[in-house]
Amino acid sequence: MTLNNTQIVDALRHVDDPDLKKDLVSLNMIENIAIDGNKVSFDVVLTTPACPLKNQIRQSCVDAIHQYVDPAAEVTVNMTSRVTSRRKETDAMLKNVKNIIAVGSGKGGVGKSTVAVNLAIALSKTGAKVGLIDADIYGPSIPMMFGMLNERPTGYDKDGRTFVYPFEKFGIKVLSIGFFVDQSKALIWRGPMASMALRQLFTDAEWGALDYMVIDLPPGTGDIPLTLIQDFPLTGAIIVSTPQQVAIADVRKAADMFRNDKINIPILGLVENMAYFSPPESPEKKYFIFGEGGCKKFAAELNIPLLGQIPIVPAIADSGDSGVPIALDDQSPVSPAFLNLAETVAQQIAISNSIREIFGGGE
Ligand SMILES: Nc1ncnc2c1ncn2[C@@H]1O[C@H](COP(=O)(O)OP(=O)(O)OP(=O)(O)O)[C@@H](O)[C@H]1O
Ligand SMILES: [Mg+2]
Repeated sequence: MTLNNTQIVDALRHVDDPDLKKDLVSLNMIENIAIDGNKVSFDVVLTTPACPLKNQIRQSCVDAIHQYVDPAAEVTVNMTSRVTSRRKETDAMLKNVKNIIAVGSGKGGVGKSTVAVNLAIALSKTGAKVGLIDADIYGPSIPMMFGMLNERPTGYDKDGRTFVYPFEKFGIKVLSIGFFVDQSKALIWRGPMASMALRQLFTDAEWGALDYMVIDLPPGTGDIPLTLIQDFPLTGAIIVSTPQQVAIADVRKAADMFRNDKINIPILGLVENMAYFSPPESPEKKYFIFGEGGCKKFAAELNIPLLGQIPIVPAIADSGDSGVPIALDDQSPVSPAFLNLAETVAQQIAISNSIREIFGGGE
């Protein structure tokens, strides 16, 4: 039997993307169909390289060709990706950045920077192009976490403005306000100056094309996060909390900030940091030292997904001080937690972008 393109396309109309709940053909995810006798190959263009359902989708494609076209067909499915974006062409700032994700919390010290850094690294390990901005103007922690305390970015002048090149380290591009100031001196900036300096990290840096830009927000719901959020069309926000009631109570403040009428940023979900402790000698055991299920319950109450749970591990604190983020270490027992988080975040972004597209997007 000779195969033809129409048969292949019709068969693949029976395969749905499990997240987007539409078939791969309607979603324009099938490309480069090639047929040679009973051999067929094609590309499935996923919405993110971090897709956790990659193998499941591949198998469904093979099964559909066997079921609807020819049980003897030799099927090769190439899984590729093109990260989607709902940012409009008219978004002049960072126009080659497909998705901007802010990591915030209502409370300080819950692990925003730890989550932002390791999420950025885990996303890049899946093959995505990733940038990271440390927007914590008063207490930047990324220079330390990246082992770059004394480094200064290089730049060039154009039309009276100075543009900087973000650093490239550990596979991602990174800038922090900490690279421009003396870290040993306390920064006493008035709000407008701080906002201005922060803005320049976005507007006067050569970020190039990125799939995901992760922003590590300062703690709380003060004026800096607000200015930032209003100026830059964010794809969505991630809220970090620890399981203690006192931290959870502050999650509502952060959620209210993002959901505020004027701001209206989709909340991608909640991350529970320091969720449990696993002793190094028996990593299968989980001790919920701060209580179990608090964030899950609260996420349900706020109607947002619980994106991931990161255990409390001394190595995370050590890695923050040593300048080598833990997610780089494949052997570390917490790396899978960050990889899962990256996959879930990418999945939520793809879903959020597709909803906007279907409903005529942007608003
Ligand atoms: N899961 C974890 N296990 C162990 N230590 C952690 C974990 N998460 C964060 N820490 C440690 O807790 C401290 C605070 O974390 P981090 O700086 O990421 O919090 P933050 O929310 O960004 O704080 P700030 O509000 O000051 O910006 C750091 O020393 C960090 O190494
Ligand atoms: Mg921080």
